[in-house]
Amino acid sequence: MARPQPYISLFFFSFLLIVSGGYSSTFTIINKCNYQVWPGMLSNAGTPQLPTTGFVLQPGESNSISFPESWSGRLWGRTLCTQDSTAGKFSCLTGDCGSSTLECSGGGAAPPATLAEFTLNGADGLDFYDVSLVDGYNLPMLITPQSGTGGNCTATGCVVDLNNACPNELKVIDSGNGENLACRSACDAFGDPEYCCSGAYATPDTCKPSSYSQFFKNACPRAYSYAYDDGTSTFTCAGADYVITFCPAPTTSQKSANGQQNPLAAHVSAGSHNTSPYFIGGFITIAVAIWQLF
Ligand SMILES: *[C@@H]1O[C@H](CO)[C@@H](O)[C@H](O)[C@H]1NC(C)=O
Repeated sequence: MARPQPYISLFFFSFLLIVSGGYSSTFTIINKCNYQVWPGMLSNAGTPQLPTTGFVLQPGESNSISFPESWSGRLWGRTLCTQDSTAGKFSCLTGDCGSSTLECSGGGAAPPATLAEFTLNGADGLDFYDVSLVDGYNLPMLITPQSGTGGNCTATGCVVDLNNACPNELKVIDSGNGENLACRSACDAFGDPEYCCSGAYATPDTCKPSSYSQFFKNACPRAYSYAYDDGTSTFTCAGADYVITFCPAPTTSQKSANGQQNPLAAHVSAGSHNTSPYFIGGFITIAVAIWQLF
């Protein structure tokens, strides 16, 4: 067996990493709220893990993170977090992930929470993304793709503050100061299969929008308002980076997002995330792997 020298393997390995890129999307998470937000992230089962699953953003602060290729999962904002002074336990009044620490480490958001959901590099190599209010709402959030192409590569989210507008029966109120903290989904509040699209209502034909889901849809036309809201709430991009903004400035309104130019026309030549080097890299990886077997 004529195995290549270790340093040659290392050289090839580094070279392949560069050529195949292991292409990742940059997510820039910005807090434009006038309060602290603790982003939390949950990777779906079987997807590459993220370098972090939770941190704090002061008002005006942002953080850029490299998301691995083909990552899927969700991201949300936790609010009103504190560290228990005696036990050192970390918890948040909204979006808590139950980990008792700053990092969510595999914990998901306790509803109600506004969710940003992603499947990077899914069907046809497209990224699928949406903002969902299916598990309720806790703060305004906007996803803005950058330099992506194809599909319907536009901003989506829920930019209005629904905590005060929330129907009374869905409101989450701070027992201490009476402040409106979040807005529950009807499924979470009442548990009816009709609202949850479960049981006899578990198909798109049987589960219809309710007056509650329509409240969310009217306020945030691009966000998921109930489980089968796919048609108007799922967006697709190829090779994009993403900016996720909590409490986007009033100028970044849903209205201006709707009026945005079609990025397909605007960025046709944006080839920075061309996937072909990846395929070439993948091919060379396989070729070298076979070669190393002998
Ligand atoms: C975006 O494109 C996807 C895939 O073609 C489609 O399923 C979805 O309905 C479109 N979304 C909107 C909001 O038009």
